[in-house]
Amino acid sequence: MSKILITGATGHLGGAVTNFLLEKTEASNITILLRDTAKAEAFKTKGVTIHVGDYENREALLKAFDGVDKLYLVSGLDHNRGEQHENVINAAKEAGVKHILYTSFQRKTESADSPIRFISESHLYTEKVLKASGVGYTILQHGLYSDIIPMFAGEHLLQNKTIYLPAGEGKTAFAAREDFAEAGALILLDETGKFDNQSIELAGSEAVNFTEIAVIISKITGETITYVNPPVSEFIETLTNAGATAEVAGLVAGFSQAIGLGEFEGTNGALENILGRKPATVEEYLTGVYGKA
Ligand SMILES: NC(=O)c1ccc[n+]([C@@H]2O[C@H](COP(=O)([O-])OP(=O)(O)OC[C@H]3O[C@@H](n4cnc5c(N)ncnc54)[C@H](OP(=O)(O)O)[C@@H]3O)[C@@H](O)[C@H]2O)c1
Repeated sequence: MSKILITGATGHLGGAVTNFLLEKTEASNITILLRDTAKAEAFKTKGVTIHVGDYENREALLKAFDGVDKLYLVSGLDHNRGEQHENVINAAKEAGVKHILYTSFQRKTESADSPIRFISESHLYTEKVLKASGVGYTILQHGLYSDIIPMFAGEHLLQNKTIYLPAGEGKTAFAAREDFAEAGALILLDETGKFDNQSIELAGSEAVNFTEIAVIISKITGETITYVNPPVSEFIETLTNAGATAEVAGLVAGFSQAIGLGEFEGTNGALENILGRKPATVEEYLTGVYGKA
């Protein structure tokens, strides 16, 4: 059985991948890399090996990767994450890791004018570095998480009854983060090599726009929720006037515009095939969020 290391295990995705692995393999096969040991008590109790290290700390990475066969590299959040990922890939190669799974992003285009250039550039860079590294790879091109819908709809949705986003009528093949995590764990556990040296676009089985999402949330809650599609400049002004930082307003605006352009609309059967079942639909996911409101 391969020895597997998961980064970002103190986060949502990496934590869920680790939990799925624990259901299928011995804890002695699993190592996690983290920055804050206080966040890893539960995994420690279950017998998972823990290494402390940042993507920027080569020595810590080399130590953590010693004896590891497969690495699940969760994309970071820092502005220099392209270089951080390169550092992780280089350390993994030096330590003899045989295979790296990298959590990248779904896209329709790779345009330099993309409204999400601030995240796409580092993903594209990491994909290039990984492919050129000579280490075996699987690039997981994740679609948008259904989990971000409540964040984009706003925490006061049930009071405001309005989803306010400059996303037009663009459709997105949202899928639950848990399903992406389970698929990642299944690929890590596969020993046939059928996922080797591939880029796999992973997304939900259906694509919906925010008009349809408003109808779904209305059905779940019994409240009439409306979708409003403001001009981007008005949206940014409204958010910053309400106290959001320019960075947050720009991030939500950028993703909304990319959604409007259909960047994340592609559906295919890859996620369903890997899971061996249908991924959770947007309605199923949102029922879990708003059904108990
Ligand atoms: N497809 C989507 O819709 C979508 C949405 C949100 C994010 N993402 C991307 O997917 C990734 C995983 O999502 P998530 O929800 O699991 O995010 P998350 O909960 O914020 O987890 C991110 C994890 O990465 C770790 N990390 C970040 N920078 C690191 C570094 N320099 N060195 C070591 N560890 C580092 C964090 O460690 P700490 O606990 O120490 O901070 C945390 O464990 C995100 O990081 C982001 O790149 C995708």
